[in-house]
Amino acid sequence: MPLVTTKEMFRKAYEGGYAVGAFNVDDIDIMQGVLAGAARTNSPVIIAVSEGALKFIHPAYIREAAKAAAEENDIPIALHLDHGKNPEICRACVDNGFTSVMIDASSLDLAGNIAVTKEVVDYAHPRGVVVESELGAIAGIEDDLVVEDKYGHFTHPDDVVEFVTRTGIDSLAIAIGTAHGAYKFKPGQKPQLRFDILEEVQQKLPGFPLVLHGASSVPQDRLEIFNRYGGQLPEAIGIPEAMLSQAAKMAVCKINVGSDIRICYFGAIRKAMAENPGKFDGRTFLGPARDAVADMVADRIANVFGSAGKA
Ligand code: G3H
Ligand code: ZN
Repeated sequence: MPLVTTKEMFRKAYEGGYAVGAFNVDDIDIMQGVLAGAARTNSPVIIAVSEGALKFIHPAYIREAAKAAAEENDIPIALHLDHGKNPEICRACVDNGFTSVMIDASSLDLAGNIAVTKEVVDYAHPRGVVVESELGAIAGIEDDLVVEDKYGHFTHPDDVVEFVTRTGIDSLAIAIGTAHGAYKFKPGQKPQLRFDILEEVQQKLPGFPLVLHGASSVPQDRLEIFNRYGGQLPEAIGIPEAMLSQAAKMAVCKINVGSDIRICYFGAIRKAMAENPGKFDGRTFLGPARDAVADMVADRIANVFGSAGKA
């Protein structure tokens, strides 16, 4: 089947109480791993490409590989621009065959965020492409953010209806305490998310799909392999799987995973290289890495997000 938008995926996910994984791919090889995991579990899947990855791989290669994958696999696949920083990059992806784009103008004030987001929606919708935007600050733990009220830098539920209505977006990324990268919480800090905010937002936007960024769970067995073979991510800590499952059962229809992919992929490469010092065939190293990504993706889908069998 051709590449699809996330529209139908999210409608079914909302109704079915599960979420679709959006997995960040940094090259075609990782994309193949992600798709193998999704195909194995018969799940819809979103291929997420950041601006950096887009430049690294080349837009045309990404598009053709994703189209080929969609032809090869009988599962719904969306091709998504992750964290587009301005309307220009979003327009370029719309014109390049992406079926979904994210405009991330969350650093602007509400009025500015609305204006920039609407500009992207006005371009994307007539061309059949859906748009995600972000409200609130999905920070890293290193960011010092000023806390003004009980919502602090998180998504303010009072803003969401105006934001969604005035922009016309198709899904909303919310900030409830997740963070990008391998360190979601400080060492010793108890992981927690603001489910009270998620609850308030979903009450204000009944039926509307929400998105969770910064949602890697940093599986400790994969982290152990990464660190054992020379990686240096001591005490990395992710979002507990139970919290991701809880969010997926609520209005969260899309869960973004990037760091877990990297930990799996490069952990497997490190291991294969250490165990095969005399080999210099790339397949010796990249094959197990691709399989490790597929296994991790299949595990997220089947055991955490709940989208197995929903293709
Ligand atoms: O947009 C990408 C994701 O939010 C990545 O988050 O660092 O938890 O994998 P992550
Ligand atoms: Zn993100």
